[in-house]
Amino acid sequence: MTNKAVIGLQWGDEGKGKIVDYLSEKFDLVTRYQGGNNAGHTVIVEDTTYKLNLIPSGVIRGKVCFLGQGIVLDPEHFLNEYKKICEKIIDPKIFLSSNIPLILNYHKQLDGINESILSGENKIGTTAKGIGPAYQDKVGRKSIKLYDLNNHSLLKEKLLTIKKFYDPILSTFNKKIINIEENLQLLNNFYNEIKKLIVDNNLIKKNFHNKKILFEGAQGALLDLDHGSYPFVTSSNTISSNILIGSGLQVNYETIGIFKAYATRVGNGPFPSELFDDTGDYIADKGVEFGTVTKRKRRCGWLDLVSLKYSCEINGVKELCITKVDVLNDLDKIKICKSYQGKYHHEINFNDSFYLDNCKLDSSDFDSFPGWGEIEGIKKYDSFPENLKNYISYIEEYLNIPISIVSLGPERNQTILR
Ligand code: IMP
Repeated sequence: MTNKAVIGLQWGDEGKGKIVDYLSEKFDLVTRYQGGNNAGHTVIVEDTTYKLNLIPSGVIRGKVCFLGQGIVLDPEHFLNEYKKICEKIIDPKIFLSSNIPLILNYHKQLDGINESILSGENKIGTTAKGIGPAYQDKVGRKSIKLYDLNNHSLLKEKLLTIKKFYDPILSTFNKKIINIEENLQLLNNFYNEIKKLIVDNNLIKKNFHNKKILFEGAQGALLDLDHGSYPFVTSSNTISSNILIGSGLQVNYETIGIFKAYATRVGNGPFPSELFDDTGDYIADKGVEFGTVTKRKRRCGWLDLVSLKYSCEINGVKELCITKVDVLNDLDKIKICKSYQGKYHHEINFNDSFYLDNCKLDSSDFDSFPGWGEIEGIKKYDSFPENLKNYISYIEEYLNIPISIVSLGPERNQTILR
């Protein structure tokens, strides 16, 4: 069996956490390679609910989890999450690449400033976790990285440079300027608590050479910094080709693409198949479509195969997993978006104004399917109602990729393999 990458094909929140938990049984190492605590997974195993933001959900099965250098890490948040997981799992095996850049308080303040200077619809609607500014510092060669934490004088010097750079902006916007001593103390306390988790990438490479690795994507392909609907994107590359850079592991892998039976988006940005009616509200309520990180209500819409096909191509997807099929059970009519104003994915540039501003759909852009009714308790694909099988076959034919996993609910045993 090869290494596998679990990638979200929509705008995040596709249910990757549950699928990583499910698949991780057969893997030795589970690795995150991008994003930060802007991501959020809820995984339910028997009577226990696990809420995770940074730690890969493979931790629940006792797998070794590695956070690669492509992520950005908020020390306070990580410590909190780590302590909570230690209450539920004895001696979790979690390792952090020493090359990880940190998110500090000024990044969160800068995230707020960035949003405040944008007006109305131009606001990105970030998670306000400081993700963008932390990645800006990485590219701007100003990050404090985990490997800096054991060198007090270097750390202080770096913080002084950062202070020179950001204090003028922070004070212009009436925000708290950078307090060197406060930051040094926070980082020192953090380092003392987690230093045993920090590893050199080479150690992971050496120990997991020839072992099976599962890569856990965060956010979704349509939020990719380069390939998504810029500027309404996150600040990292979410697609599979970032895996080798973000994890530092030079291995081959195959990609399984995860998508919901409908579509959701949090924050601003284009969403051609968005529903503005009672059906949209119904899906949001039944699917509990409220952000795990920000608690915002997610925008809901019909499954959009135009963007899904694009996502499959840019991720080299070999197999698919459809999630939250049960949310649509009770609807009489279910729609799928097959074109944008008669155009297909190869006719669309996902960064230009056709997509960003004026992609309004009409009825000829959708196909309709009859509902499939109750599916609770079904354990085999063969037992699915014909209407559901037809819905699934239509998607497979359109994308020309097999759906190998169907998820009918949040529990592990509500996962059907084909
Ligand atoms: P940021 O990642 O906090 O900078 O937010 C940028 C955009 O990505 C906003 O529209 C967020 O709502 C969205 N976003 C970031 N992380 C997630 C996620 O895990 N799920 C869904 N949307 C996300």
